[in-house]
Amino acid sequence: MKMNPWTLSVLLLLAGPLGADPVWHVEYPDSFCVVEGSTATIPCSFTHPAGQRVERVVWCPNHEICSGTTPNVYNSSNVWDDSRFLYLGDRVRNCTLKIIKTVKQDAATYRFRFETNGDKYTGRKGVRVTVTVVKNVRLTVSSTNGEDVKVRSSVTDNVVKEGGQVTLTCTSACSFHQLDVHWYRNGHALPETSPALQLSCLTNDDAGNYTCSLDSSGQKTSAPWCLVVVEDEEKSGWRVTVSVVSVLLAVILLLLAGLVFAKRRHAQKKASVVNQKQEAASEEVSYSTVHFKPSSSRSAPGPEHEIVYSEVVR
Ligand SMILES: *[C@@H]1O[C@H](CO)[C@@H](O)[C@H](O)[C@H]1NC(C)=O
Ligand SMILES: *[C@@H]1O[C@H](CO)[C@@H](O)[C@H](O)[C@H]1NC(C)=O
Repeated sequence: MKMNPWTLSVLLLLAGPLGADPVWHVEYPDSFCVVEGSTATIPCSFTHPAGQRVERVVWCPNHEICSGTTPNVYNSSNVWDDSRFLYLGDRVRNCTLKIIKTVKQDAATYRFRFETNGDKYTGRKGVRVTVTVVKNVRLTVSSTNGEDVKVRSSVTDNVVKEGGQVTLTCTSACSFHQLDVHWYRNGHALPETSPALQLSCLTNDDAGNYTCSLDSSGQKTSAPWCLVVVEDEEKSGWRVTVSVVSVLLAVILLLLAGLVFAKRRHAQKKASVVNQKQEAASEEVSYSTVHFKPSSSRSAPGPEHEIVYSEVVR
C-alpha cells in the first residue's frame, strides 16, 4: 500500500513527538517532600496499550528502569509484609505509593515499572522524594525558622461565632497534600487525618486548644491554636429587638381592643335609645361607627336628624 505524504505526517503526529509512544506512560510528580517520621502518599498513574494485561508492578529507588535484581521497595510478585512502602494502586492504571513513618534514608528518586504480557515500561522521569527534618516545637521554646509544624486557620483571629465554621490546616516546610496528620483538641485525639480539619456548626464544645502532629507518637507536634466560640451577638441582638417589638405590639393591640370595645358599648347604648325612639324602623342594621352631631349645630332638631350615620354595614 502506498501512503501519500499528508497521511503519513498525520500518522506521525498521532504517534507523538520523536516517536514516543503516548500509550505507554507513567505520571507522577517531579518531586515530593516528606517530613521525617510522617506518612506520605505519592500519587501515580500509568497507561499501556489496550488489550494488554499487567502481570507485575515494581517501585524501586535510584535505578533507571528497575530491572532484574535491582533493589526495590515494592514488587508485586514478592510482597514484603512489614514494609513501610505500601502499594495503594492496582494493575489497571493506579500506581499510588504510600510511605509510612519516613526515615531520612528514604530520600531517593523512585521509579515505577510495570510489565504486561506484551512488554515492559518504566517511568524514567521518576519522583524525587526529599525528607525534611522538622523540629518539635514543644521541645523548642523559640521557633524562628519555617521548619516547624504549624496550625493555620481560615479566620483572622481565634474568636468564631456560634454556628460558624473554621478550617484548620496543618503546615510545615513540606507541602502537606497527601500527608497523614493527627489532630488533637485539648490533648485528645480527633478522628480526622487529613491536613485540613473542617469545623462547622460550631458550639462551645468545639472550643479549646488544637494541635496537629505528623506522627502518632506525638512528635512533630504544632504549638496549640486556641479556638474561642462566642454567642452570635447579631443573632442575640436581633432576638432582643424581636421580643421588645412583640411586647409593644401586644400592648398596642390590647389598647386598641379596649378602645373598640368601649366605643361599641357606647354606640350600642345610643342605638338602643334611637331604636326606642324609632319604633317603626325595625330593620336589622348594625352600625360600625356612629357620629353624634352636637345638638347646638342644628336649629330644628328632630329625633330622626339627631344622628348621622357615617357608615352603615348590613
Ligand atoms: C489511586 O488510588 C489511591 C488510593 O486508593 C486513591 O486515593 C487515588 O484517588 C487513586 N487515583 C486515581 C487516579 O484513581
Ligand atoms: C489552652 O491553652 C492556654 C495556654 O496556651 C491555656 O491558658 C488554656 O487553659 C487552654 N485551654 C484549654 C481548654 O485547655
